This record gives sequence, structure tokens and C-alpha cells, in this order.
Amino acid sequence: MELTWFKKGTIYQIYPRSFNDSNNDGIGDLRGIIEKLDYLKSLEVDILWLSPIFKSPNDDNGYDISDYCDIMSEFGTMEDFDELLKQTHHRGMRLILDLVANHCSDEHRWFQEAKKSKDNPYRDYFHWRKPAANGGPPNNWKSFFGGSAWELDPLSGEYYLHLFTKKQPDLNWENPKVREEIYNAMRFWLDKGVDGFRMDVIPLISKREGYPDAPKKGFRKIIEEVYANGPRVHEYLKEMNTNVVSQYDAFSLAEGVGINHENAGLYINKDRKELDMLYHFDVLECTIVNGKFEESSVFNLVNLKNIFKKWREAVHEKGWLANAMGNHDFARMVSRFGNDTSYWSESAKMLLLMQATQNGSLNIYQGDEIGMTNIVLESVEDVRDVQSLNFYNENLETKRYSNRDALEMINREGRDNARTPIQWSDEINGGFSAHTPWLKANPNYAVINVEKQDKDKDSILNFYRKVLKTRKQYDVFVHGDFEELEFNNPNIYAYKKKRENEEILVALNFSEEEIEFKFDTSDVASEILISNYENLNIENNQMTLKPYQGVVLEMN
Ligand code: GLC
Ligand code: CA
Repeated sequence: MELTWFKKGTIYQIYPRSFNDSNNDGIGDLRGIIEKLDYLKSLEVDILWLSPIFKSPNDDNGYDISDYCDIMSEFGTMEDFDELLKQTHHRGMRLILDLVANHCSDEHRWFQEAKKSKDNPYRDYFHWRKPAANGGPPNNWKSFFGGSAWELDPLSGEYYLHLFTKKQPDLNWENPKVREEIYNAMRFWLDKGVDGFRMDVIPLISKREGYPDAPKKGFRKIIEEVYANGPRVHEYLKEMNTNVVSQYDAFSLAEGVGINHENAGLYINKDRKELDMLYHFDVLECTIVNGKFEESSVFNLVNLKNIFKKWREAVHEKGWLANAMGNHDFARMVSRFGNDTSYWSESAKMLLLMQATQNGSLNIYQGDEIGMTNIVLESVEDVRDVQSLNFYNENLETKRYSNRDALEMINREGRDNARTPIQWSDEINGGFSAHTPWLKANPNYAVINVEKQDKDKDSILNFYRKVLKTRKQYDVFVHGDFEELEFNNPNIYAYKKKRENEEILVALNFSEEEIEFKFDTSDVASEILISNYENLNIENNQMTLKPYQGVVLEMN
């Protein structure tokens, strides 16, 4: 497998609203990112992915776009963007944008026009259906954010489709004009020098003919079988790649909603020329049984190993994956998969070692490099995320859970956990802004912040720097042949990896106990490349791993 710049490079996701506020209005902005480019460079990341920065009424924080070729006013101006791109490239980093092409905002001119009449030239940019016989929605499809996926337009008496909020009408990709509009928007940014796109919910763009009712199954199955992987999705992606992405030195990173390890190859096998890589939801959702807020299960390491294994084997020499353990849609990585109290620093570092040594691209979400944790929001007044609010409000009607329980569920899994302002220092609001931020800062900024960790050689931040730097020197971290060790061990994740003349052994303790771990006596460890503890007790091919200890050994 050849390692191009976009495969080797570490991708760092910025959620601009929460990153850094340069003009003290409580909202992060583009100038704020520019101020922190040297920091990002020092982190050894290579590719910055910006969550949407386009004009938007912010019903879903920018994932509802009202103009694809303009900048959200709170974030700054086009000049600010041009400067950001220039400064990023100047430092040898790349920049990718978030392409939200499944839907736009109901405030987009296309939808404003479409609503005017049934024969408006933009009507066919969206999905319209007559009501069902009883006057209700045309089918039983549910929005990802609760309630029906159809909204009645009173003027025409027809329903339009919105798989997300009702302010996010789905675009009709069957219409070649819609596709051309999206491609032109992509060209607009690529011509400026942007290096690619992360593609929001891209497997949803082709809808099933006749909009058939969804079967009575779990929501994940319904996504796979009804909403995602529609009949023309591969045709559209091929067209998009041929006509746009492949014309530039750029790449596509897809959000793989509804994709499983069996059909992943159809999207990312390199000879198919559709997408360059995707991240899937099996890891991100491995503690979520069905609904986002309900039925969470305890984290299970063997289950996680199985997920990594089956995906790795499914794509091995044919396609490319990106690995994400967190993003703006999930609770914080260290709170979900590690221990954010007694082994906070150890587990945050160990999780990075696991991520950095899996095959595929490494995706880091802002704030994970200092081990930012979940926040406890004391009142629903403090909740900002539309998904959490919809869940809360629906529950006010159904009364399935007490209000306190509903808030507790939001605090456990809700998206605001990952969206609190970045904690730059111990100053007010974590140094993010002098103004009250749009979403509360996590009060633990006094203890967890960039400034403090920058000075501490043993901090999570400096560990990230070291690991990312080492990953650049050893291609085997990025891609290699795997050999699992003690696969069924519920506490230790260990594997050997080989690529050309490089060989490493990775051993990770996921428990709070000290554990002995023995490896093959024919192996000789020549050097401890990285460990998250100062010492590693290793003798005669046996090591004692401290709680949450993670090590990478170089073998020969
Ligand atoms: C993706 C985004 C999420 C957004 C949704 C609708 O899942 O990551 O934040 O709400 O798509 O655009
Ligand atoms: Ca601002």
C-alpha cells in the first residue's frame, strides 16, 4: 500500500465555534484559528479539517448551509479565510473543508424559491411528496434527530424530506442541476487551494425509489437498508470524483454513516475511484446499543478488537480507512474509553497509542490532545445541541424518563460534551474568550489546559507531540501486516506489526490493574520506542504493564 501525503498525514478536526475566539464575542472564529496555527504546527498534525464555516442560520451549528460559497458572518470574512488558507500552507500544513451535500438550510435561496410554487424551477432541487391518505407524512421515515423526516409545507400542501432537522431539507441528487451546483461549490474552494473535503453523511445522497416504508428494526439497520447506500450513490460518487476531486491534488474523507465492513469496499476500494477514505461508526458507537441516549452498554475491549480486526481485514490492501475515536458528535474519548478521573493522563495517552498504531489515517479531534473530558450541564438551559434538545423535548411529551434522567443521559452521550470551548489556559472561560461563550466552558479548565501542559514534559500534550512525530518516522505505524496477540484477553490489547524492514510490538493495558504480559520468546525487543510511563518493567520477553500503560517496542 503506497502512502500518499493524505494517508500518512495526521488529520486534526477543528470545530471552529469552540476553538478560539479572537474578537471576544463568545464564538470561535477564523482569526482565532490563525492565532493558533503555530500551536497546531507544534502538535505535529498535518491536515486541518474545519467543521462547516459557510453561511448558515446555525440550526445545527453550520451543518445547515444557506450559501456554499460564503463565510458564516460570526466566523469572519472571505479575506479571513484566504489568510487562514495561506498561513496554513505557509506552515506546510493542509486544509480541508466540510462538504454538507445531502441537505442544505431551509434558508438557502434554492429552498426559498422551491417553496414558492410547485412549478418553481427550484422545486425539483428537493424531495416533495403528497400527504398519505390520512393527511399525515408520506411514509414512516424518522429524522436522525427525532420525529418524522417529513415536514408539511402549508402553501402547497406537500411534504418535504429532511433526514435531519426540519431546517435541513434533503437535496434531490437525481436532479443533475443539483449535482452541478454542488460540484461548482467544490470547485470554488478547490480553486482557492483547499486540499479536499470531509463529506458529511455522504452515503445518504441517493434515495430509494418510491420512498418505501422502513421496516420495524433497530435504527442502525434502518439507516443501512433504507436511508444510506441508495441505488445511485456509487454513480454519483464516481461522477464527483471524476469531474471534481481527481482534477486537483485533493482528497475526500467520507463520514461513513450506514456503511458496514462488507460494503465499505464499494466506496473506498482504490480502483473504483469513488472516495479516498472513510471513517466508520462501529468504533464510535461501540458503547451505544441502539438509540444515541438510551441503552448504552459498558465498554468491552474484545468487542473493540473485533471491530478493528474485521474492518482491517475487509479493506487491507484495497482501500483506506481513517480512525476516529471522537469527534463533534460524540462524548469525549477519554471519558468514554478511558478513565477520566484516577487514570486520566495515563488512559488518554494509551488511547492515542492505540489509535496511532492502527492501520489507516489518524484523526484527532480538537481538545483530545490535552485530554479534555465530558462536562456536566446542571440544567437544560445550558444544553445547546439540537439533537439533545429534541430528545429532551420529545421526552417532555412522552414522559418515558424523568427530566433528571433525561438530562443525565444527555450528559453521558450528548454532543455538547465535545463542543465545549478549548481550554487554552486557566484564565476565565479557559482563555477561549473574555465574553461568556456560546456553550459553557468545562470548569476543569483550571486544571486541564494547554498552557499548563505545554510546560510539563510529561503532559498528554507533549506525549501527543512525541507520538505524532514518531509516527512520521515509522511507516509501520500507519500501515502494516498485523499479528494479534492474546486476542481474547479482556484487558490487554497487543499486536505486532510489520512493514518492509520495520517491526513493532504494541501492548496496551486497558485495566486499572497491573498485568503481566508475555510475548513470543523468538522476538527480541531492541528498543522501547514509546511508553506512557517513565519505566517499563521488561525481562525475558515478559513485561509488567501498569494500569493503562501502553508501550510500543521496536523489534528486530
Ligand atoms: C453529520 C455531522 C453532524 C450533523 C449531521 C447533519 O453527522 O457530523 O454534526 O448534525 O451530519 O448534517
Ligand atoms: Ca468571535
